[in-house]
Amino acid sequence: MKKDIAYLHAKKQERQPITVLTCYDYPTACMQDEAGIDIVFVGDSVGTNVLGYKNETEVTMDDMRHHLKAVRRGVTDAYLLVDMPYAADRDVTQAITNAKTFISEGADGVKLEGGPEKVPVVSALTEHGIDTCAHIGHNPQIHGTKASTHGRTFAKAKRLIEAAAALAEAGAKLIVLEKITEEVSQIITDTLNIPTIGIGAGRCCDGQVLVINDILGIGPPLKHAKRYQDYSQLTFEAICRYKEEVASGAFPTDANTSHIPPDKLTRLQKWLKSTH
Ligand code: KIV
Repeated sequence: MKKDIAYLHAKKQERQPITVLTCYDYPTACMQDEAGIDIVFVGDSVGTNVLGYKNETEVTMDDMRHHLKAVRRGVTDAYLLVDMPYAADRDVTQAITNAKTFISEGADGVKLEGGPEKVPVVSALTEHGIDTCAHIGHNPQIHGTKASTHGRTFAKAKRLIEAAAALAEAGAKLIVLEKITEEVSQIITDTLNIPTIGIGAGRCCDGQVLVINDILGIGPPLKHAKRYQDYSQLTFEAICRYKEEVASGAFPTDANTSHIPPDKLTRLQKWLKSTH
């Protein structure tokens, strides 16, 4: 069953946690979809996690389109969300053009970073029938890769709560809360009727999102994430074993090899002799 916004909103009403993971390629998209992940999310974290960029501001529309198309091919049921990269939503006109590009390439909705200043963009996209997911708290495009916790003081907590309400009022269908204190995330979750998706925002959000690399064990361990395997170690070991086996001749073996039938080989050898 294809998951849509109504499905995700029903999950909030029924207090069933919404599962979200970033995804950057086709095979991972197939696995996430098969595992029943609700939202497969092509995040602009592709820049630092896959493309070797220093930060999110280097990610372009072309980068996002390339990865969106790969992920699209692997997703059947999940809701497919894509990030608007840095500067792609600087003004309303540009945001509409870029969001429409993503939708025409198979995204179900777009996510954009920022607080109340993004209200006009969210309103305009909503008027154009485009699902938007807001993103407040730590915004990597604005604050950089080093994340600090938001919502520790009264004034900052109030600003976050007001920003979330304004974005929801403007038509946002989902909202990511990144690196926000659990108490403030809970207030936002309880007061909005759209689902909140937390990352480093505690246990009370309607759903959780993590970067796929962080659950697989690619890169350093992070407080807000959990490693479910040690991909870096396992992959490094596999690469070393492959290198050693090629160097020693242990790979390939006969099992990895194809043969020409003996009668055809005899004929080939005779022909070869006759040419010399
Ligand atoms: O790009 C990203 O990975 C994000 C996070 C919220 C997961 O925006």
